Amino acid sequence: MIQDTRHLNADRRDIDTLDEIWLFGYGSLIYKVDFPYLDSRPAFIYGWQRRFWQGSHDHRGTPENPGRVLTLIEAPGERCFGVALRITPAEFDHLDHREKNGYLRKLETLEFMDGTRRLGVLYIGPPDNAAFLGEAPDHEIAAQIHRSEGPSGKNAEYVHALAQALRDFGEDDKHVMRIDQLLRELSEENR
Ligand code: BEZ
Repeated sequence: MIQDTRHLNADRRDIDTLDEIWLFGYGSLIYKVDFPYLDSRPAFIYGWQRRFWQGSHDHRGTPENPGRVLTLIEAPGERCFGVALRITPAEFDHLDHREKNGYLRKLETLEFMDGTRRLGVLYIGPPDNAAFLGEAPDHEIAAQIHRSEGPSGKNAEYVHALAQALRDFGEDDKHVMRIDQLLRELSEENR
């Protein structure tokens, strides 16, 4: 289902007084940034892991055939790698529009590779958002991604680009790599 979260994010007042803030990207922001930023650094967040559990009706799927994109799931003891981008609050208009299908901004502590920590913002599709699809067996997740395509392109391309970017950073994210591998098998089968 489609839900527009723009007003919920725009109504937030927590970063209004800041000149700049770190944005934590754990998905497409790792390999593609289409807005200005002041700095970019690899980083971790703790207690979360990425999962293809969020429906995409507007980017990598359609309302009739939603794709699957990433959200973060609480996972005590785990850490999630990503890329932190230092941006001005002016960028949030564009980001809130892009991530309007169920994502909410959330403040979280980021840790850089040298161990220093900063407060940052990330977008999360919480389990109670209308586009949340939740857990499914890996082969079902891969099959849904394999058949999905939306205005931003094929859902599988999003997974392949993310998996490659994580590999380039030396990150072995088992969930992403497993879905990437299953998608490669599906496209081989259909050749
Ligand atoms: C990202 O990290 O690319 C991202 C993930 C979910 C929503 C917005 C951005």
